[in-house]
Amino acid sequence: MPQTHPHPDVERVLLDEQQIRERITEIGEQIAADYADEPPILVGVLKGAVMVMADLARSIDLKVEMDWMAVSSYGSGTKSSGVVRILKDLSADISGRNVLVVEDIIDSGLTLKWLLSNLRSRGPKSVEICTLLRKPEAARVEIDVKYIGFEIPNEFVIGYGLDYSEDYRNLPYVGVLKRSVYEV
Ligand code: IMP
Ligand code: MG
Repeated sequence: MPQTHPHPDVERVLLDEQQIRERITEIGEQIAADYADEPPILVGVLKGAVMVMADLARSIDLKVEMDWMAVSSYGSGTKSSGVVRILKDLSADISGRNVLVVEDIIDSGLTLKWLLSNLRSRGPKSVEICTLLRKPEAARVEIDVKYIGFEIPNEFVIGYGLDYSEDYRNLPYVGVLKRSVYEV
């Protein structure tokens, strides 16, 4: 059974399946046009970017490679700690290649800032970012984001890969988590 009714912990649905699908399709077409001469290696940031990566990769009509990194900056709470650790590194050598980082969400931007300098130190030809969601805070850090799905309000969201304490990642939509779930 598809999950159509909102989860009881969801305050409201912010982006439904169709909105997400349409926007990702547009971005995929844009990426295919921009990288037609030299296809990128897509680097997904685990675990949140799994859904974005799966849908985005299928909407890019080019030969693309997919690789993954896992970094940790959030504990089980809702605020970025700023401390980043590599839990899983890339399998591929990215030197001389066009890297497109695929993210679920940019909040403070601390994680991404760290990740970008880490990737740039490996001698890629280019590094760009594609994120499904961006929160207002992120606009203050000097990170150039080439592809943004949606600018969203400063609320804690879950679903479509995004979690709270490892829960809700499998919701097919992006929803605002009820504050009562994390404020006790
Ligand atoms: P940043 O370092 O503050 O930009 O946060 C980066 C990471 O925090 C994201 O990749 C997510 O894993 C997590 N995160 C930030 N905001 C949210 C949210 O609203 N819901 C779920 N995870 C979030
Ligand atoms: Mg993430």
